[in-house]
Amino acid sequence: MKKSFKSICCLFLSIMLVLSFAFGSFAYTNTAEAQRFNEDGAFRIMHVTDTHLEYYNLEASAYLIAAACDREKPDMIALTGDIAMSDDKEEMDTCIDRLMTVFEDRKIPVAVCFGNHDIETKSYTNPSDLMALYNSYDCSISVDEGDVLTGCGTYNIPILASDSDEMKFNVWVFDSGSTDGEGHYSNVPADQVEWYKTVSAEIEQENGKINSLAFQHIIVPEIYDALKKYDTPRAYAFEHIYNKGEYYAFNPELENHGVLNEYPCPGYYNHGQFAAMVERGDVLGIFTGHDHSNAFSVKYKGINITNSLSTRFNGDAYSSQYGYRIIDINEADTSAYTTKAVHWYDFYTLGDVFELSKSGDEYGAELAMNVLFQGFFRKFADEFATTIVYMFTGRQCAYN
Ligand SMILES: [Fe+2]
Repeated sequence: MKKSFKSICCLFLSIMLVLSFAFGSFAYTNTAEAQRFNEDGAFRIMHVTDTHLEYYNLEASAYLIAAACDREKPDMIALTGDIAMSDDKEEMDTCIDRLMTVFEDRKIPVAVCFGNHDIETKSYTNPSDLMALYNSYDCSISVDEGDVLTGCGTYNIPILASDSDEMKFNVWVFDSGSTDGEGHYSNVPADQVEWYKTVSAEIEQENGKINSLAFQHIIVPEIYDALKKYDTPRAYAFEHIYNKGEYYAFNPELENHGVLNEYPCPGYYNHGQFAAMVERGDVLGIFTGHDHSNAFSVKYKGINITNSLSTRFNGDAYSSQYGYRIIDINEADTSAYTTKAVHWYDFYTLGDVFELSKSGDEYGAELAMNVLFQGFFRKFADEFATTIVYMFTGRQCAYN
């Protein structure tokens, strides 16, 4: 009896939600504080993701992220989940504080969304409590939309003209969730897709066509349509996360950048996010994390499906390949943008080590030397492997 009453309530709420979207009477509250193009027309986003901060990697990761901010001078940080994780609440809070203080000190606005790990610890089980912690920092422009959508942290950020309040660009942030309860990762759910379609249409009605970028933790399932399928294993082709016996590598017929280093991990069920974006035609690129060593971009159906590196350094050669991504847009032409993935192993030169040492920053000098040393081997191994595959098979596995 109880169950059927619950089902009727769920059905009623679902119908109300669909009707609200259909008739546009929904009260949208999830638009973040607008940002603005700089006087020179530029706007730079730094994509930081999957920091997976714990005490053991906190100091090195925070130091590198701070150094990257000082070098790149981003206008906004997109922080897309799996940020800190510990069952010890004090550790988790300390990690988040250390990271957010990097941005707070530099007055860089931060847009947060969550990954599959952020609320799986005992420290935070309610995403709203965790979002409240991020929003306790002045630099956070993240939005907790409350109960109006599934999840927590789905919103848009208007980017205004440098010299007026005209909306020139838009950034979408989605909560792609965690898992679906059936052993797969989750995807952006149907109600968020409906929200996107409605708000996208509203924005166009008010401002004309506004180009945009999207950020979320988990990659869209269409990534497997954008890669080339092989029936047998081969180098730099990775077995499909769900369909065993299918191997995927870059499709040379598409526009590719970067390297595919592991199989992408989208959700199993597709709720139509990518299709909606193709239909609306206002999203230039969709940026995700989650697959830590994948730093690629593949253009499919007009949208750059882009994965960014885990932004942390654990002190070993493997994590010296991690890093961050820079995205530059300009109000003079919002139909295009440029982007680059920066690996830690390319971040420092020997000259930087000497400079840091000369300035008395012994910790920085030692860390930079360690990144350089570990990274030398990692970078050499990566480049050697992709070159060998190309030489013997003619298959390109790494793109500029
Ligand atoms: Fe993840």
